[in-house]
Amino acid sequence: MISINNVQKSFGNTVILDGVSLTINKGDVVSILGASGSGKSTLIRCINGLERLNGGDIKVGENSVKNKVELNEIRKKVSTVFQHFNLYPHLTVLDNITLAPIEVLGWEKSKAITKATELLNLVGLQDKSDSYPSQLSGGQKQRIGICRALAMEPECLLLDEVTSALDPEMTSEVLDVLADLARSGTTLIFVTHEIAFARKISNRIVFLDEGKVRADMEKEQFFSNDGGRQDPRIKRFLDKMDSK
Ligand SMILES: Nc1ncnc2c1ncn2[C@@H]1O[C@H](COP(=O)(O)OP(=O)(O)O)[C@@H](O)[C@H]1O
Ligand SMILES: [Mg+2]
Repeated sequence: MISINNVQKSFGNTVILDGVSLTINKGDVVSILGASGSGKSTLIRCINGLERLNGGDIKVGENSVKNKVELNEIRKKVSTVFQHFNLYPHLTVLDNITLAPIEVLGWEKSKAITKATELLNLVGLQDKSDSYPSQLSGGQKQRIGICRALAMEPECLLLDEVTSALDPEMTSEVLDVLADLARSGTTLIFVTHEIAFARKISNRIVFLDEGKVRADMEKEQFFSNDGGRQDPRIKRFLDKMDSK
């Protein structure tokens, strides 16, 4: 469904992604792990065309991020949830969720509202549709961020450290929603430092190190002593995370 082929990305003279290739299949739940600065966010931004590639290609279905018209098609199929929510402060929760389906997909307002209401129920925030973002907690904002992304009925959801600005209680309410999505077969590409959670919901783990794919393994294999942990770099990363 998504093919990432030998992607190169630099900022100035600094190489950030150095020949990254990955294939994401429908229904995959792929966690992307790696140290801070390893290029995880840059990869996510390349997939939805927020960064221009210096080499290689990324295709979603038949569409390439390198073609402007095709990128618009990709943005209808791939939605992103950001670490800092990025909700529109001047719009109500309902308007935040219905805006893109109406503007980008051309839905009737009533259809968009029905969908939004369904999603608000899913994340347990059905009573917040008339609230403004400033009236919500961080965990609630992020659940709305997820609703907004899902309102586009995307084929794939990109999530970049969506819980790292949240306290533990709010983190768990957001992770619960994501676990439900993973079970329901939504394709997820999930950048996280929540290793235990990644281990629970993913079927595959990708480990990025200095802009390269250091491991791309089935989950069980990645965490086993004779799999991912045989790589000293990965063992060091996992041991450090375990001790946190
Ligand atoms: N717009 C930018 N301009 C210059 N350097 C950047 C930019 N965005 C990211 N970088 C650099 O790219 C590297 C990888 O960043 P990032 O993809 O955010 O890593 P991660 O998400 O894994 O922490 C970092 O060294 C960061 O400073
Ligand atoms: Mg990042």
